[in-house]
Amino acid sequence: MDALTGSPLGWLCMGVTALFGATVLRTAKRSPAEQASVLVWRLLPALLGLLCGATLGPGGGLVVFCAACVVSSVYLGGRALLPVGDKAVLITGSDTGIGHALAKYLDNLGFVVFAGVLNKDGPGAEELRQTCSPRLSVLQLDITNATQVKEAYLKVSEKMQNTGLWGLVNNAGILGFPADGELLPMSMYRQCMEVNFFGAVEVSKTFLPLLRKSQGRLVNMSSMAGGIPLPRYAAYGASKAALTMFSGVMRQELSKWGIKVAAIHPSGFQTGIQGTSDLWDKQEKDLMENLPADTRQDYGEDYLLGLKSYLVHIPAYCAADLSPVLSAVLHALLAKRPQGLYTPGKGAYLLLCIFCHFPLWFYDFFISKMLSTESVPRALRTSEAESKNL
Ligand SMILES: NC(=O)c1ccc[n+]([C@@H]2O[C@H](COP(=O)([O-])OP(=O)(O)OC[C@H]3O[C@@H](n4cnc5c(N)ncnc54)[C@H](OP(=O)(O)O)[C@@H]3O)[C@@H](O)[C@H]2O)c1
Ligand SMILES: *[C@@H]1O[C@H](CO)[C@@H](O)[C@H](O)[C@H]1NC(C)=O
Ligand SMILES: *[C@@H]1O[C@H](CO)[C@@H](O)[C@H](O)[C@H]1NC(C)=O
Repeated sequence: MDALTGSPLGWLCMGVTALFGATVLRTAKRSPAEQASVLVWRLLPALLGLLCGATLGPGGGLVVFCAACVVSSVYLGGRALLPVGDKAVLITGSDTGIGHALAKYLDNLGFVVFAGVLNKDGPGAEELRQTCSPRLSVLQLDITNATQVKEAYLKVSEKMQNTGLWGLVNNAGILGFPADGELLPMSMYRQCMEVNFFGAVEVSKTFLPLLRKSQGRLVNMSSMAGGIPLPRYAAYGASKAALTMFSGVMRQELSKWGIKVAAIHPSGFQTGIQGTSDLWDKQEKDLMENLPADTRQDYGEDYLLGLKSYLVHIPAYCAADLSPVLSAVLHALLAKRPQGLYTPGKGAYLLLCIFCHFPLWFYDFFISKMLSTESVPRALRTSEAESKNL
């Protein structure tokens, strides 16, 4: 500390640091909602400056302080949001869940929202009409129906002739029936691809001319299961992985048009995605009917009938507060420099990190420990019991 307090330059360095710290604390007090990470980036130059002032002397401290200030303001500048203005955004799958919440959230922030819904006479669509501002329009849009995609495009382009469309959020998606990949019927794989991948591709292709006009944003709601392998998610995960890869390629190709592309990989959030018990019964029946007798025998009736209980328990593992996902989409839509990938929700980033940076055997081991309460197929149970008896 002697080096710092000994000279006028040292006093100057400390004075600047103190002033800086006080400003940061005042702004943080004024907007308590400001995220911790922003605060850290604001405080970093002061801390580094002090540290280096103490070790390298006041000159070094000042140089490091200035350099850190530049880095921090470039970083925070990238995080700065563009004004909402009269930006228009189309969201698919706004009947329920994330899409529904997002339509209300963006409407509330002043966006012109086009809320695509699977059923324009359903309760979700009705609620949007009643609770949102007159800026919001509800559009009938089954993303797997080419006619409806075309019709929605005509409606949006008619309204937005001059300004184009700022944002497209490919949110509509289905989970299907989570079960071992060997057991899932082909129809389940096809259905997941149809909605989660081909539907999103068709909507994107159709609306890209409007996005190019505004040099806007394309946001894809993928999933944690689309970035990392997870048991039971062969069909869903594969369709989301296809969407994620498509997004990555689009990000590269569309940059020349000034369009920025982001993919969102949420972990578990409480929505309607797990479906209803009527749907589970139908999916279970479909699965059972398509199983070869041997496979059915090997897995055993109680294992197969237990698959459904996983769905029942999904909400217990999911977060009720959707705001991390909503903030991620808002950042993707408005940040000057949006991220290519967002991972809102518990565990989404951690698991991706382990998958990307550790050996595969470690990732697999980790996942098997995490999900260790899974039931065991009949054929494996009997051989386990036999080997114990020997
Ligand atoms: N919730 C999570 O934990 C989680 C995690 C990772 C990723 N995601 C992804 O986030 C997105 C939103 O999911 P969510 O959790 O909000 O589930 P959700 O409540 O089921 O919302 C999905 C919406 O898409 C609609 N939809 C289904 N098929 C459609 C089609 N062919 N055309 C147009 N719309 C269709 C659904 O309509 P109906 O309700 O009428 O079927 C529903 O309103 C999905 O892409 C999902 O994969 C969710
Ligand atoms: C597609 O949408 C059109 C227009 O809403 C409708 O008439 C048609 O029946 C739909 N097709 C399918 C296969 O659902
Ligand atoms: C989303 O995916 C679709 C196709 O799956 C692609 O056309 C689009 O560019 C992607 N957009 C983003 C923002 O990831």
